[in-house]
Amino acid sequence: MIMKKETPGQNPPDLTVAIGGLVLKNPVMTASGTFGYGEEYVPYCDLNRLGAVVVKGLSLEPRLGNPPPRIIETPSGMLNAVGLQNVGVRAFLSEKLPFLRRYDVAVIANIFGETVDQYRRVAHILSGAAGIHALELNISCPNVKKGGVAFGARPEAAAEVTANVRAETDLPLIVKLTPNVADIAEIALAVEEAGADGVSLINTLTGMSVDIEKRIPHLANVTGGLSGPAIKPVALRMVWQVVHAVKIPVIGIGGIMTAADALEFLIAGARAIQVGTANFVRPSATMEIIDGISDYLTRHGLGSIDKLIGSLNTNPSNGD
Ligand SMILES: Cc1cc2nc3c(=O)[nH]c(=O)nc-3n(C[C@H](O)[C@H](O)[C@H](O)COP(=O)(O)O)c2cc1C
Repeated sequence: MIMKKETPGQNPPDLTVAIGGLVLKNPVMTASGTFGYGEEYVPYCDLNRLGAVVVKGLSLEPRLGNPPPRIIETPSGMLNAVGLQNVGVRAFLSEKLPFLRRYDVAVIANIFGETVDQYRRVAHILSGAAGIHALELNISCPNVKKGGVAFGARPEAAAEVTANVRAETDLPLIVKLTPNVADIAEIALAVEEAGADGVSLINTLTGMSVDIEKRIPHLANVTGGLSGPAIKPVALRMVWQVVHAVKIPVIGIGGIMTAADALEFLIAGARAIQVGTANFVRPSATMEIIDGISDYLTRHGLGSIDKLIGSLNTNPSNGD
């Protein structure tokens, strides 16, 4: 094996990471539902620079989502109850994917269904399409009555849907986990055993907000999913727990607004990260985060991101 010589300050650090068979040029992805299908972000981001684009969740048929109001700002975050509005998997392939194919970027299709069979069929349709590099299985949406988190809250159900999709596709398979459970590591282990190549976490935390003058919920759905800086410490704790429970790569999500936030997840052991709510606040956030990670590695004399991932020292008094 040829060892790479570290020459800090000369070569840019190697940011390449692998998730199963999927090799990414850097660990920064967009989180599903916060970047549409990529097109709106072109004025702000060079899509070629992203590790991956994770597209809005796709279902077998188009969905209108929940009635408005569907979004409300909260201290240090936002609540959404969009309800998985999307164009449907076939329209995605004919109308949205051709645009993304023009770029040199990995495209990860986030998928969901109301039944195991629907998940399987969406996976089947996407597996035959050129330009899809991996699937992310959403078993964690808190805003739909059927499907979503119903599959992600119990290890048996999570394993069943994972195994069924695994049997349907050779694409790298990432399973996205919900934080709205007692033991997230137990679910992560179940999907690892069922054939997942990686897990991503966390999806939103179920929350609520009340208009005190009208005495009605701010969201028509009553409850919604909390995202943004408010959830970062919870997400980081869960990522750290899951990193120690499974052998497959873990993708960290939750309140990542800056490169410093992303670095916390990587040091805690996440192989890659996704940026969500930050895209609404600063549409070029992903570009700043990639640059910031690279600058940090250079500043610390680390030639590759591998040297950083999982380097957390939980016993600092015991030396380095
Ligand atoms: C408006 C909105 C829509 C979302 N839609 C999806 C979706 O379709 N599928 C999914 O798996 N996650 C969806 N999410 C969850 C995000 O991908 C992410 O897991 C979550 O927002 C936490 O990350 P953040 O704090 O960086 O936003 C959505 C989040 C928001 C705010």
